[in-house]
Order: sequence, then C-alpha cells, then structure tokens
Amino acid sequence: MARFFVLDDVSYCYPGSAKTGVCQVNLELEPGTFLAILGANGSGKSTLARLCCGLLKPTSGRVLVEGYSTANDEELKYIYQQVGIVFQHPDNQFVASTVEREIAFGVENRTLSSPEIRQVVDEELSRFGLMALKTAQPHSLSGGEKRLLSLADIWALKPKLILVDEPLAMLDPGTKHRITGLLQELKTRGQSMIWFTHGLAEVMWADQVLVMVDGQIVWRGRPAALLGMAEEARAWGITLPPATQVASKLGIDGPIVANERELVAALWK
Ligand SMILES: Nc1ncnc2c1ncn2[C@@H]1O[C@H](COP(=O)(O)OP(=O)(O)OP(=O)(O)O)[C@@H](O)[C@H]1O
Ligand SMILES: [Mg+2]
Repeated sequence: MARFFVLDDVSYCYPGSAKTGVCQVNLELEPGTFLAILGANGSGKSTLARLCCGLLKPTSGRVLVEGYSTANDEELKYIYQQVGIVFQHPDNQFVASTVEREIAFGVENRTLSSPEIRQVVDEELSRFGLMALKTAQPHSLSGGEKRLLSLADIWALKPKLILVDEPLAMLDPGTKHRITGLLQELKTRGQSMIWFTHGLAEVMWADQVLVMVDGQIVWRGRPAALLGMAEEARAWGITLPPATQVASKLGIDGPIVANERELVAALWK
C-alpha cells in the first residue's frame, strides 16, 4: 500500500530569486500524526506548506499523497481533496460573498444533497461560533473571525491531512484558546495535521517537531526535547514557552519547566 504522505528530497526556488525557498526536505507522515514545523520569519514554512498541498510544485524532489504526486496535474485534483490548507493570511482563502456561502462553496463539490449541505454549513457555523455572522461578507470580518471562518472552511471538507499555517497569529487569548481546543479535538479524532509556527508553546502536544532554518530541516525530535535547548532555539529564531524562559532566567534547578503550572510548582519547592 502507498505511504500516506511523503516529501522526498523536496526543494523549491522562487522564479528569479537567488535564495532557495525550501532545500532538500525529507519527511514522512503516518496517518493520525500531528507534526509541528517550527522556524523563524522567512525560514520557508509557508513555502513548504504550499508545496505540501500542491499549490507549489517542487523545483526538484517529490511530494506524494497516498502515492499520488503533486507534480502530475491529473493527480492534483485528488490531492486537493485529501489535503486542506488554512493559510497564514485568511483573506487569501475566501471566494464567496457571505460567510455561509463561503463554507458551502467547498462542500458543494462533495456530491451532497441540498439539505445535507445545509446541515454541514449549520454545524460548522455553530461549531466555530459564526452563526450570527452567517450573512456577513468574509472580507469584512475581524482578524479572529476570519481565522475561525478559514478553519470552518477546511473543517467542512474533512480532508485526510490538514495544514495550518500560523493559526494563532494575531489572535486574543480567548480566540487562541478556542482554536487550540478545536484543533486538539481534531487530533483526538485521529486527524493528521501539520502546524507551521515559530512558537513552541502552541505545539507542545505535537507528536514530532521539525525545525527549519533557511529552507532546510536542521533538527527533528519530540517537542519536550527542545525545552532544554535555549541557545539553539535563540539561534534558530524559535520561541520557547514563556514559562520555560522565566524559569531559565530565575535559574530554577530541577526538571525543565514547560508551562505556567510547572513554573508555579517549581517556585513553591
Ligand atoms: N512569492 C515569492 N517570490 C519570491 N520569494 C518569496 C516569495 N514568497 C516567499 N519568498 C521568500 O522565500 C523565503 C521563505 O518565505 P516563507 O514565506 O516561506 O517564510 P515563512 O517561514 O513562512 O515566514 P513567516 O514566518 O514570516 O511567515 C523568504 O526569503 C521569502 O522572502
Ligand atoms: Mg509564513
């Protein structure tokens, strides 16, 4: 049987650019796995995300989804149905004139009847707290509402692999908490996911982390292993959890602190 998702020595150069966007990336994802890709601004995360879903084609190497290659236009249609991307900038994603039509747009390709489509749209409006905004124009929404809509769009399509590019950027703590909860719920249901960010705290619950520097993967391992790598993290431009940074500044001995709860416990010792 074909492997679920494979990047085989993938490189990408933007036309006319001297710099390589993504350089010789290899990875394999098992179904149901949550992979985090960490990197500084300009390290190549969004470029890699676009390669993973076929919006960009590798300059060399291959992106394979269940054995189908993004390099092949005939196979791309299948890949678009299996891999959904939530863009870093949600405005890039919206195509319809109202919030409810926006969610219905992708679902209409799933050969569902009108009442079934209505049901999916209502479920997603309610899950993402967008019911009161269903007739609003997507582009008129606030940043947080746009992010929720972009997730609802992809959620409704039920792709086998979801890519989320900086899903918590520019959000208030309440909305961050809500979106994290929704994505954690997906993970417990066995959803395969790749999350691109520069902040480790967001993805401490990932199965595996890859670190990107200048388009290349420079480290891979479990998220907890990164907590004790303050110097490397600084050099790579990735952010350790605030509680870990505070504990390190205070020179707290003992196990490395991963979150606020552990910081409080360490301070009480
Ligand atoms: N359309 C483009 N044309 C030419 N170069 C580009 C283009 N898009 C991105 N790049 C370059 O490719 C490199 C990687 O950019 P990318 O957007 O993938 O980084 P990123 O890790 O997502 O950054 P950020 O954290 O700021 O979102 C950068 O040097 C960027 O300037
Ligand atoms: Mg980006």
